Amino acid sequence: MGRAEFGRLLREVRLRSLLTLENLVEMSGVSVRAISDMERGQSLPRQATLGELMGALELDEDERRRFVEAAARRGQGATGRVPRQLPPDLAVFRGREEALATVYGLTAQVAEPGGHVVVAVIGGMAGVGKTTLAVYWAHHVADHFPDGQLYVNLRGFEDTGHPMDPAEALGGFLAALGVSDLDIPRGAEERGALFREWTASRRMTVVLDNARDEQQVRPLLPASTGCLTVITSRSQLSSLVAVEGARPVGLDVWTREEALSALAARIGEERYRAEPEAAGALVELCGHLALAVAIVAAQVSVTPGSRYAWSCGNCAEAGRCWTPCRPVPAESTSGPCSRGPTGPCRRRQPCSSGIWPCTRGRRCRRRRPPHSRASACGRPGGCCGS
Ligand SMILES: Nc1ncnc2c1ncn2[C@@H]1O[C@H](COP(=O)(O)OP(=O)(O)O)[C@@H](O)[C@H]1O
Ligand SMILES: [Mg+2]
Repeated sequence: MGRAEFGRLLREVRLRSLLTLENLVEMSGVSVRAISDMERGQSLPRQATLGELMGALELDEDERRRFVEAAARRGQGATGRVPRQLPPDLAVFRGREEALATVYGLTAQVAEPGGHVVVAVIGGMAGVGKTTLAVYWAHHVADHFPDGQLYVNLRGFEDTGHPMDPAEALGGFLAALGVSDLDIPRGAEERGALFREWTASRRMTVVLDNARDEQQVRPLLPASTGCLTVITSRSQLSSLVAVEGARPVGLDVWTREEALSALAARIGEERYRAEPEAAGALVELCGHLALAVAIVAAQVSVTPGSRYAWSCGNCAEAGRCWTPCRPVPAESTSGPCSRGPTGPCRRRQPCSSGIWPCTRGRRCRRRRPPHSRASACGRPGGCCGS
């Protein structure tokens, strides 16, 4: 109801003011596509856009109130909801300038006249920052996608070994769009068709996180040129690039500067500056991997007041913290870090306990870090590597 009502109101007031669509575009700075979508009842304006339209139309107080009320009725009635499924944005997001330039460039291609559906695949090893980048990106371009954001973790590489069935993901999406339980078909194909129908005239972001392979994501791709789909995967999903024209965005570990800036953001500038050499050694031992830096920073943060040079000592004594691992082709059945057809495994992931420094009790040679009551270990063979 909100969209249709707002669209009617907008068109009525524009015509009464003797403005063409182009006049309103020029006076408000809002794009022609956005205004015509609104007038056709296909989308509602965000706060800033609404302000620009009301200003350009020189509405009196009463009309302003009607506009605001109609725009606020988003998500009600038969036209569906505006889902907001993204996980929270990371406050300490750092680095990734190059990747961000690429993805913002891709965003600009969405809904270009005569354009194609935009699908991006963020690939890279576990812990490198794929999900974080996808979520950051989707939040920062949310204004361009007034019909909302869908997000699902497809559990492609979780220990459970049970990637999510695409039909289940589609069921969740349809429900989030406002389709009632009774109207959601049973079969995966029917669900896929209904999903494409529901997204056909919408402008939204769809984040398919942690995808196992192409088969898992294909049924979840909207066909609308107004939608942006962002997939993250440890696999390269090369056939999606070849067949669907998906754009690959490769992520590698941070540069040293990025890793240091991320460490400083997490432990605080003051603490970082107090031991710059230890900070350098720590990020080096973390292999500049985002996940490793996050874990190490958390460990340092929970021992306030202590020096953190001890962390390096422990880590160095234990061997390498993080050893590298490459993404594997989707056809590999042996899992992302096993010695598969791509050659010798080059792992880069935390020790199986997931805790750093390792707290594995009796198997570890424990020692207490200076100035701290927390225990750390120097387990031979590498407390963090595996
Ligand atoms: N750009 C970034 N800035 C700060 N921290 C990051 C960044 N990217 C990743 N991280 C941190 O690293 C951890 C692993 O990132 P994640 O996106 O989950 O990796 P992946 O999806 O590649 O496995 C996250 O907990 C996050 O806090
Ligand atoms: Mg992830």
